[in-house]
Order: sequence, then structure tokens, then C-alpha cells
Amino acid sequence: MAEKTEETKNRKRAVLIGCGNLGSVIAAGIAEDLAGQWELAGIMDSNAETARTAAQKYGCSVCDDVPGIAALCPDVVIEAAGPGVLRTYAEPVLEFADLMPLSVGAFADDGFYRAVREKAAANGHRIHIVSGAIGGLDLMQSVLFAGDLHARIITEKGPASLKGAPWFDEHPLDETKETVVFRGDAIEAIKGFPKNVNVAVACALATTGTKEIYVEIDSIPGKSLNTHRIILEGDFGRASVEIESRPTPDNPRSSTLAAYSVLARLKNMTDTVSFI
Ligand SMILES: NC(=O)c1ccc[n+]([C@@H]2O[C@H](COP(=O)([O-])OP(=O)(O)OC[C@H]3O[C@@H](n4cnc5c(N)ncnc54)[C@H](O)[C@@H]3O)[C@@H](O)[C@H]2O)c1
Repeated sequence: MAEKTEETKNRKRAVLIGCGNLGSVIAAGIAEDLAGQWELAGIMDSNAETARTAAQKYGCSVCDDVPGIAALCPDVVIEAAGPGVLRTYAEPVLEFADLMPLSVGAFADDGFYRAVREKAAANGHRIHIVSGAIGGLDLMQSVLFAGDLHARIITEKGPASLKGAPWFDEHPLDETKETVVFRGDAIEAIKGFPKNVNVAVACALATTGTKEIYVEIDSIPGKSLNTHRIILEGDFGRASVEIESRPTPDNPRSSTLAAYSVLARLKNMTDTVSFI
């Protein structure tokens, strides 16, 4: 087991799985912005060079497997690698640490989501679903107490941000025209657009459920920002939250805001004052 030194004993420890576009922002943020509260204890990445370079930069360990992560005694394991990775590591990790997943689309599989929650509960750990590329999960939690709720999320992206999604195998996209490419629930949305609509699944889990939420995806030629409009209607009244974020330069499907939401959650976990 890794010992805490005098310098690190008051800090919480995080291990990061996946050090790509978002993971590298998270690693830098922990090392630079949250250094007083958090220590990046280890990094795991299937690209050995990526893992080694990042570990050297942040002075932490490279992890090769679950026992390697457990040996670092992390308080939280952050997943920024992909839905398959979350499926592989979520349950073993929850035996010894909290989990902060970014590939929340994997939780559209009800059986998997239930198994993960059961594992967390059995071991006294928690699953922290962050706002990711959107905001308003706090508001969603609040309005649920008011009674009936109807939730919609409408995502607008440029065709380049949507390109490559399995949905287009059967529904070819005309990249020159504004098009409503998808209307349906969060389960169908994540199947058709596994890299684009983690946010729809997060919204669904935070509100009415994956089958009940209305998800729409629009392709807007020339659009450089990713827009997510969330509309909540119910006994409390009506709320809409709109986020226009810049896609990550190296990966137009991703949004750096998602990495910042992990840092914000870590900060809220350790600060004296917490904003949900
Ligand atoms: N919740 C949200 O709002 C939100 C927003 C954007 C992205 N995401 C999700 O976050 C995840 C990360 O996004 P990204 O843009 O940083 O991706 P990325 O492709 O840039 O980085 C992924 C990293 O994970 C590593 N990796 C792949 N397989 C691995 C494995 N088996 N073990 C360890 N490492 C592995 C890769 O080598 C890479 O370095 C994706 O699943 C993406 O869909 C979620």
C-alpha cells in the first residue's frame, strides 16, 4: 500500500483512467488548481507512452490493472477513457474507492447501472455523475422534489461533430442542410450516437429516466459551438438551461467543459462550502 507522506496526508487521492483530451485537462487541473486538496496518485492509459509521459509530468504512478490502482488507496477513481472501460472497471473499483465516470452513456444499460449502484452501496462508496458537457444537474435534482416532471434535451452540433456515429449507417446525413437527425429516448440516442450524447443519459438519470426523456439531435452546417438546450417542465414551473460550448480542438465530439466539471466536483468534495 502506498504510504501518505507528511505533505500529502491531508489531501485526498485520485487515480485517473484515460489521459486523452479530457483526461489531460483533468490531470493538469488536479496538479495545478487543486494541489492543496487533491493529489493525483496514479494514471492508467492503454497507450503506454501516454501513461508514462503524464505520470512523469505529474510525479505519479502508472497503473496497469485494478490491483495497481487499489494499491494507491485512492479516494476516487476518475474514468475518462470510454464506455467499454467504464464497464470493465466500474464494479472492481467500487470495492475500494468512489467512482467519477465521464462515459455515462454506458449507464443507459439499466442492468449495468443497477449492478454498479448495488456494488457501490455494498461497499460504502459513491458514484459521482458530473455535469459533463452540460449544467443543471443540480436544478434537475431540486425540481424532482416538486412532483411531476417532463424533461427534454435538444443538442445542436455541426456535421463534423456528429460524423462517424453508427446512426448514419442507416440514416445517411446530408451535411449541407439543417437536419433533425434524431428524435427519441436516451437509450436509442446513445446507441446511435455513443460519442455524442453522454449528456442526454446524464440528464435522463438525473430526472425522469432513460426511456421517458425526449432527446433530439440536430445537425447545423457551419455551427462551430455545441449547443445543448435542456427544458424542464412540471409542477414547479418551467426552466431551460442552454449551454454553448467550444468543442475540444483535437476532438470535435468532445467538450473541455466536461473535464472542468470533474475538477469542480473534486473541489466541491473537499471545500468547506459546497455548491451542488
Ligand atoms: N459526460 C460528458 O458530458 C462527456 C463529455 C465529453 C466526453 N465524454 C466521454 O469522456 C470519455 C473521454 O473522452 P476524451 O475526449 O477524453 O477521449 P480521448 O479518446 O481523447 O481519450 C481517451 C483516453 O483513454 C485511453 N484509453 C482507451 N482505452 C483504454 C483502456 N482500456 N484503459 C485505459 N485507457 C484507455 C486512450 O488511450 C485515451 O488516451 C469518452 O467516453 C467521451 O464520450 C463525456
